[in-house]
Amino acid sequence: MSDLRNPTLEFEPTLEDEQPASAGTSDDAHLSRRTFLKAASVVSAGSAVGFPALAQPGRGLPEQARQITLQVNGATHPLTIDTRTTLLDALRENLDLTGTKKGCDHGQCGSCTVLVDGRRVNACLTLACTAEGAEVTTIEGLAHGEGIEGLHPVQAAFLEHDGYQCGYCTSGQICSAVAAIDELTKHSLSIVSWHSGQTDAPQFSDDEIRERMSGNLCRCGAYPNIVAAVRYAQTQPGSGLPKGARA
Ligand code: FES
Ligand code: FES
Repeated sequence: MSDLRNPTLEFEPTLEDEQPASAGTSDDAHLSRRTFLKAASVVSAGSAVGFPALAQPGRGLPEQARQITLQVNGATHPLTIDTRTTLLDALRENLDLTGTKKGCDHGQCGSCTVLVDGRRVNACLTLACTAEGAEVTTIEGLAHGEGIEGLHPVQAAFLEHDGYQCGYCTSGQICSAVAAIDELTKHSLSIVSWHSGQTDAPQFSDDEIRERMSGNLCRCGAYPNIVAAVRYAQTQPGSGLPKGARA
């Protein structure tokens, strides 16, 4: 069976040829490392230029490949990708939009949060093919201009309130906060709204912010400043979805 995400299969004959006579020798480690590097270089090459580089002359695209068009931050991107490619990998590996971070790759940390038609999603749990026809907004698409003046109000608030330390979770936190502000503005309810009895028009309380941002983990523990940043941002004009991130 061909596995296009695992071109190491191409090296199987070489692997067998290179098997050491006995396991556990220093040669074992050496060969593993060498084989790994050879495989990794092919993976990198495939990622960088897409499937056509892996296609055999006269055989066309591999069966798992599909040509799609992604709309990201207002730009149109035709792509040829493996149908199993996540939106996160398509953004980072195919489109070079590396502001969106890969933390757990399992839908647990929120560092890969992006907006799809104005709703926040974990890009690591979203197949790129399913985002075709939608407007994808990443951290790179939030600012409306150059420099600090051009930052989205939520980005500016994170700067102002020190809403980060290492910054790895920050792009996901900011995308999530933009959508959370939009949700609260539209009176979308959370469990906190029910507990506080504010089911007509939930207030922008710290509890609401914590609940709505609870899918975004911060290993540095910058939570108090993140809450302060979101609380401040929602008072600023234009703190919701940017133009073009249609809901
Ligand atoms: S990388 Fe997607 S949720 Fe952690
Ligand atoms: S700022 Fe480091 S993980 Fe959040």
